[in-house]
Amino acid sequence: MNLQEISISELTLGMYLVALTDQRKKMSVKNPGLLKNQVVLEKLRSKNIIQVTIDIDKSDIDDLVETAQTKVPLSQEMIRATSIFTESKAVVNKLLTSLAQGSDIDIEPVNKIADQLVESLISNCDALQSLSALRTKDAYLLEHSINVAVLMVSFGRHLGFSKAMLKKLMIGGLIHDIGKTQVDIDILNKPARLTASEFEHMKLHQVLSNPLLDTIPNLSPISRDVSTMHHEKLSGSGYPLGLKGDQISLVGRMSAIVDIYDALTAVRVYKAGMSPAQAFKIMNTMAPEELDGDLFRKFMVKMGFFPVGSLVLLSDGMAGLVWESNSDDNKSPVVKTFYSLKYKSHRDVKYVDLARSKLTIVKGLSAVDFPADIGEYRLH
Ligand SMILES: [Fe+2]
Repeated sequence: MNLQEISISELTLGMYLVALTDQRKKMSVKNPGLLKNQVVLEKLRSKNIIQVTIDIDKSDIDDLVETAQTKVPLSQEMIRATSIFTESKAVVNKLLTSLAQGSDIDIEPVNKIADQLVESLISNCDALQSLSALRTKDAYLLEHSINVAVLMVSFGRHLGFSKAMLKKLMIGGLIHDIGKTQVDIDILNKPARLTASEFEHMKLHQVLSNPLLDTIPNLSPISRDVSTMHHEKLSGSGYPLGLKGDQISLVGRMSAIVDIYDALTAVRVYKAGMSPAQAFKIMNTMAPEELDGDLFRKFMVKMGFFPVGSLVLLSDGMAGLVWESNSDDNKSPVVKTFYSLKYKSHRDVKYVDLARSKLTIVKGLSAVDFPADIGEYRLH
């Protein structure tokens, strides 16, 4: 034990908290432990605490401090994120294709690109979030794998996870659905909703994923949980094992939330993608029986109803993309407008900072409200 007293202003994520001192006395904390959650840190800072006692030996500071680095401007990060994102699609596509063909896999490129994706998300998560929100109808497995990974890391960062942990979440997200490479390809790519028996067949992807996961060298149990638990439900009604309550780990619960959110908001040949608000409404009926209610609320707070990459209508009738988040107020992001919903026609691009404008967001939109060629607006 190596105890040290520091001022409350010096307290950061990753410190092992043992005691608190307010104006009157020193008190030991009920549950000493690593401070991992930004919300708890802010709560502590808002109280009348003057000093805190931490255990240096048990603290994990270096790794966590890195994740709290200054935000890189979006225009700058967008350039780096675009090339990382393009490469990540190629790397994950190669992994999925090799698995489908039964050939040997090389996990090193996946590890490498996972590092770069995490770095970009830490620098400015808006860039990758915007790029990965662009969905096509014909590359669902690939796009869903990358999107779940990006969302898992954004969620983990919101919960105050360390960089090492974020990397494990990223890899878990990228490989979470690899079992789908082993199911009947006609069912996987069916351009319509699945029948009950086809759905039963698709559920097999979670059984078929285990031998594939076994072939990945040095796979962390955290990454494995993200993959194996993303269809488990707290009620025990999920699959493949029907795990219940505490049998599902924290990252397993997170992956169930992220997987459903991405599936609901995705565009498929047979359905339009829901707006985030519509997806949250459905997911709200699943919490707390099936989804962890506390985690689901935190995920909603992190994403907001108008996350970066989502489509919105402004009060002047112009529609566009949520471009850049505003950490102080998630109802007032910067919106890139380019389409008149009323006249159904393109307009010159404008960036509207809602924190400095009288305009407001009227509602979230779905991709079906726009012409098909809006993808290019996500890139510049
Ligand atoms: Fe799945």
